[in-house]
Amino acid sequence: MSWSDVYPWSPPRQGEPVIRQVYDQVRGAIVAGTLKPGGRLPSSRDFAARLGVARASVVAAYDLLLAEGYAVARVGSGTFVSGDLSGVTELRPPVAERARPPEIPPRVRDLDEMVLPAPQSDPRLFSTGRTLLDARAYDAWGRSMRRALRTLGPEHFGYSDPRGDAALRAAIADYLRAARGGVCEPDQVLVTSGAQHAVDIAVRALLRPGDPVWMEEPGYPATRHALTAAGADIHAVRVDASGLVVAEGMAAAPQARVAFVTPSHQYPLGVTLTMGRRMELLNWARDAGAWIVEDDYASEFRYDGPPLASLQGLDGGDRVLYVGTLNKALFPGLRLGYAVAPRPLAAALANARQLMDRQASTLTQAVVLDFMREGHFAAHIRRRRIAYKAQRDLLAAELRARLGYVLEVDAPEGGMHLIAYLKDGRSDLAAEAQADAGGVTVRAISRLYRRIEPRSGLMLGFTGFPVRAIPAGVARLAQALA
Ligand SMILES: Cc1ncc(COP(=O)(O)O)c(C=O)c1O
Repeated sequence: MSWSDVYPWSPPRQGEPVIRQVYDQVRGAIVAGTLKPGGRLPSSRDFAARLGVARASVVAAYDLLLAEGYAVARVGSGTFVSGDLSGVTELRPPVAERARPPEIPPRVRDLDEMVLPAPQSDPRLFSTGRTLLDARAYDAWGRSMRRALRTLGPEHFGYSDPRGDAALRAAIADYLRAARGGVCEPDQVLVTSGAQHAVDIAVRALLRPGDPVWMEEPGYPATRHALTAAGADIHAVRVDASGLVVAEGMAAAPQARVAFVTPSHQYPLGVTLTMGRRMELLNWARDAGAWIVEDDYASEFRYDGPPLASLQGLDGGDRVLYVGTLNKALFPGLRLGYAVAPRPLAAALANARQLMDRQASTLTQAVVLDFMREGHFAAHIRRRRIAYKAQRDLLAAELRARLGYVLEVDAPEGGMHLIAYLKDGRSDLAAEAQADAGGVTVRAISRLYRRIEPRSGLMLGFTGFPVRAIPAGVARLAQALA
């Protein structure tokens, strides 16, 4: 198989020499770069049959291409586009200049200018967003994949419910009721490709351009970008040690339509929204007729004390659109997460999802469902909690021991990264660059502020690296910052 087999070759037109037409088509495809150097050309027999011409005509056209150096013949294997076309062609003929280039819309410029997170495949300590699977999870995942493949039926091959597989939605609802105090039924669950996708669906469904919204400051940049792309009027609301300062949001934008929050582990500061603030936020939303989007992106990983129930559960499921993800509990490349819609929004969110990409992959859903049903998901989370806690503790202890003179370490009760605040007015951007030069990845939090005076601090991910790797990473960081 080569691309020449699927190229839309045209049958020759009447009244023009056939050999010339075959020659022109093949040469044209080579010169345009559509057929790449080294690619196989169709056999003369197949090509003649496809075009409905005599085989001798194709052979003659190929002879011309061979003579001019566009093609080479390999005995026993066929005719190929020449590997070196430099001597024969002015590849890519100039495209005629159009009178007026299309205008770049403002939305494209906005999207161009977004600074999106670098791919988090960076294996260097202490990049964020990475997870570890132990051998047991890895084996169990492999078994679930094989079982899902064996049980694959016609229902997996077609278009299916845009909300996701019914059994998986039921399993997610069970999980949320048990683990997060969620108040939800499977028909409110929408399977997405992750928390990011769920947030974007919420933004599209809930907001029109110009609608006022609350967003945490500092906050998660990708949520901010989704809001910017939708033309929302963003009001940055400060976060303190108790989480979002609801009173300031009420003073600045009492009529906001939606509040976007990360209550269980604020991104990036890692603080938990206190029960008092949760009630304030829900009361404001009730009075203002507003919605809340609760991004519960790392709720599985809580290390100290019992977790607070989700806002969604506290509210009873009326005005909180809950967002969760399996990409953190398992691995980010999985691309599977979920939203729980308040009932009045359920159909609209499912439609919004269908407009974007119809549905999640049925095979991936089947694998995750099997992994959950066999009890591996719960067991994996339990083991990860223990491992990640040890990783967090060691990272915090090493940072305090080696860098306590310059860093104030804030080890969060949960989540996947910690914050080390810089002392004495040192710049986190400079520290980030020094660390980078020293081979360690840390992220400056000052970038995540827009309105208020930024704090200077570094985010360090601790979940992506085995505990034994951490001391050497901190030693490198200490050297880089010295
Ligand atoms: C606050 C927050 N929300 C959403 C996401 C995106 O998660 P997902 O990979 O499930 O799209 C992240 C990922 O880092 C996050 O930190």
